[in-house]
Amino acid sequence: MIRYTDSLDNIGIEHLEGFFEGWQRAVTPQEHLKVLVASQRVLLAIDEETGNVVGFVTAITDGLLTGYIPLLEVLPKYRRKGIGTTLMRRMVEELADLYTVDLICDAELQPFYQRLGMQYAGPGMIIHKDARSLERNK
Ligand SMILES: CC(C)(COP(=O)(O)OP(=O)(O)OC[C@H]1O[C@@H](n2cnc3c(N)ncnc32)[C@H](O)[C@@H]1OP(=O)(O)O)[C@@H](O)C(=O)NCCC(=O)NCCS
Repeated sequence: MIRYTDSLDNIGIEHLEGFFEGWQRAVTPQEHLKVLVASQRVLLAIDEETGNVVGFVTAITDGLLTGYIPLLEVLPKYRRKGIGTTLMRRMVEELADLYTVDLICDAELQPFYQRLGMQYAGPGMIIHKDARSLERNK
């Protein structure tokens, strides 16, 4: 059974293994916990059998007009079971009073977000630390 919560009570680094798959910059469970604590909105999916976090979504917002969803991830073993959809649906509901909510995603995930009521809004811009240092080294 998966439990969804916005509480970080009793969540330690031992419950945060396996995330940030494929990132160029490694993110440790300690850093992950810092990110969760610092984010204004957090939702976690927890496997009740193990107590481990198996999915999460974060948001930052000015509380009135705009919100941004920087991170959504479900552990590979738990994907395609509706967990990502549930996390996003709940987060979008939490941010429903804002004028805009945006995020950046790969093209393959556009249908996933469109099903949640989001619209394509490209082009966008980003400052990306790894990309910047690669550019400088050209
Ligand atoms: C994207 C992600 C959060 C989806 O989580 P999930 O729990 O597997 O999603 P759901 O089970 O709710 O998926 C619902 C539907 O979305 C679509 N979908 C899900 N993941 C997809 C993917 N990687 N590519 C394309 N479509 C996808 C499918 O249509 C899926 O339905 P189906 O399983 O019946 O085919 C998960 O794949 C993930 O953590 N990926 C790595 C991190 C990432 O890309 N995060 C998003 C950053 S923008």
